[in-house]
Amino acid sequence: MRVVIAEVPELARVGADAVERVLREKEHPVLGLATGGSPLPVYAELERRHREEGLSLAHASAFLLDEYVGLPADHPERYRHVIGRELVDRVDLDPERVHGPDGLAEDLEAACAAFEAQIQAAGGVDVQILGIGTDGHIAFNEPGSSFASRTRVMALTRQTREDNARFFGGDPQAVPARCLTQGLGTIMQARQLVLLATGEAKAAAVRELLEGAVSVAWPATILQHHPDVTVLLDEAAASGLRLAEHFRELERVSR
Ligand code: F6R
Repeated sequence: MRVVIAEVPELARVGADAVERVLREKEHPVLGLATGGSPLPVYAELERRHREEGLSLAHASAFLLDEYVGLPADHPERYRHVIGRELVDRVDLDPERVHGPDGLAEDLEAACAAFEAQIQAAGGVDVQILGIGTDGHIAFNEPGSSFASRTRVMALTRQTREDNARFFGGDPQAVPARCLTQGLGTIMQARQLVLLATGEAKAAAVRELLEGAVSVAWPATILQHHPDVTVLLDEAAASGLRLAEHFRELERVSR
């Protein structure tokens, strides 16, 4: 894994570079997009490059990681709307080519299978942006998730509902209890992964991710088995790392 410990603007540059490389190299680039707070600096940097440097996302398609089950179609916290506000509406990405699992489907299992099929039909994800939950989830693969899991229905942990209450007027009960999420097996098939974590609340999960044993107790640890992962950390998120100095040194000598 490449680990970058830096201030947020530098993390945003490294994350946006990974996306830009795929946009420039591939005829039909496929982006994997996380929602939540962590990726926002990368999306803002992509928007800046689009506006000021002519970077185009017009030939890309994109897949969301997850979606809440049962939020009304016009609810502002549906991830479809969130990604619209935070990225799609700000660049030239075609909204018709931005896909997410359908949290309003009558048959949720069928919606999950259809979403998996769409990812495969697009040729798989070239670069997947990820955040990490304080309980070590990626997408909404909560502790105990199978490493082989595919897109499916998942119940959110109490911890995640508390963490996400900030998007729902501070009320954890207002956060939907269930979601549809790409599985760990699905995410592991993306060709490149870029995970962002900022703030001290993420320090324990980041320590497990980079220095812990691979375990379903901390789902993100499966990323240790992926051949192309970049982990972008601010000082606070890196504050629990025993190997922080080693990671800094590695970055100094290899760039
Ligand atoms: C959201 C997602 C989640 C978040 C995680 C961290 O699409 O997949 O795994 O990345 O809950 O959320 P933030 O970034 O808001 O701290």
